[in-house]
Amino acid sequence: MRPLFIRRARQLVTLAGSSAAPLVREKMNDLQIIENGSVWIERGVIIAVGPDDELAHRFADRISEADVIDARGKTVTPGLIDPHTHLVYAGSREHEWTMRLRGATYMEIMNAGGGIHATTKATREASEEMLYEESKRRLDLFLLHGVTTVEAKSGYGLSFEGEIKQLEVAKRLHDTHPVDVVSTFLGAHAVPPEWKDDRDGYIRLIMEVMIPEVSRRGLAEFNDVFCERGVFTPDEARRILEAGKAHGLTPKIHADEIEPYGGAELAAEVGAISADHLLRASDEGLRRMAERGVIGVLLPGTAFFLMTQAADARRLIDNGVPVALATDCNPGSSPTVSLPLVMSLACLHMRMTPAEALAAATINAAHAIGRSHVIGSLEPGKKADLAIFNAANYMQIMYYYGVNHTEMVIKDGKIVVNEGKVCI
Ligand code: NIG
Ligand code: FE
Repeated sequence: MRPLFIRRARQLVTLAGSSAAPLVREKMNDLQIIENGSVWIERGVIIAVGPDDELAHRFADRISEADVIDARGKTVTPGLIDPHTHLVYAGSREHEWTMRLRGATYMEIMNAGGGIHATTKATREASEEMLYEESKRRLDLFLLHGVTTVEAKSGYGLSFEGEIKQLEVAKRLHDTHPVDVVSTFLGAHAVPPEWKDDRDGYIRLIMEVMIPEVSRRGLAEFNDVFCERGVFTPDEARRILEAGKAHGLTPKIHADEIEPYGGAELAAEVGAISADHLLRASDEGLRRMAERGVIGVLLPGTAFFLMTQAADARRLIDNGVPVALATDCNPGSSPTVSLPLVMSLACLHMRMTPAEALAAATINAAHAIGRSHVIGSLEPGKKADLAIFNAANYMQIMYYYGVNHTEMVIKDGKIVVNEGKVCI
């Protein structure tokens, strides 16, 4: 494999120096940008990053053997990282959207058997092959938007076989698609109808059968619970997250999305790597998250699509909570794959600065999935995952919103998107 030399980016946004701890407070604005910057890549790994003249000098006698990409006028960033998706699912729910537009709430639809239950039905009925094909199409779209790593949750099987099937598909996608897929077990996404009269029975199935098997087969790294009134209580969530810990699964949590429910506090108590949503998190909960370094994964696309007030990102950042951003890609509350659009919404609806938004979708997102030592910044030794945007500076990626500025994507040192098209 020939070396790859990306040269003379107008802005090379490195985010260097934050692999050990996520960026917090004012530091989220420090993107470590190199003007006229270049990157030398070999065997899928970043070897050197710096001003073009420096690298041109250092590699002078090897430039002829390298593939050279001219990034003049462009903005180069680490490949974007989406730390919260429900990637693997079947079916679609636009009919529920019409119901919501007429006044029904997300929870009303779910309690009437729609929502998560509708997607669970479709996902259970889908063959593994169909699920793979549908999810692969979505993964291609992620890649086209500059995303090189996604976290993917189960949670639409809600039975032993169903959950394993979803996680097997995620694993196969990881093995066959350029985008890296990091799996989270979300058996506690809802109590399925057949367990309605015995919710504790379902919780025990999760704790005693599903978690041990998921862990034994190495099908997930994280264990997540939808902790919300009417779904799983904080006490139930605690039991499920502790059971996961006992089997080596790191806790994550869907917390305080619809009402304040102690989710942020619980995340800190169990030592979750992240607490996600947080629209209604209490001040005390945020304080404890900051103390324990729990990352707040914010999902402004979900608030936008559910037509609710977004999370108070400024309050998180001012309290010292490290913030990451994600699409929450799912068929009901956030049917998008566009992390750049989510960054625009983070600015417009949560008043994050464009710099904070980019840090939140790169290095802090890497921290939210335990990958900060390998991805999330452009530094020697890290995976050569990069996005090249047709933008004169990083702000334009979100300022000209709703437009996909991704021109080229490099994954593990290979060009996988060129001129806005997947080329694998
Ligand atoms: O993160 N809040 C719970 N779960 C998803 C939605 C899943 C669905 O509606 O299918 C979320 O928004
Ligand atoms: Fe979610």
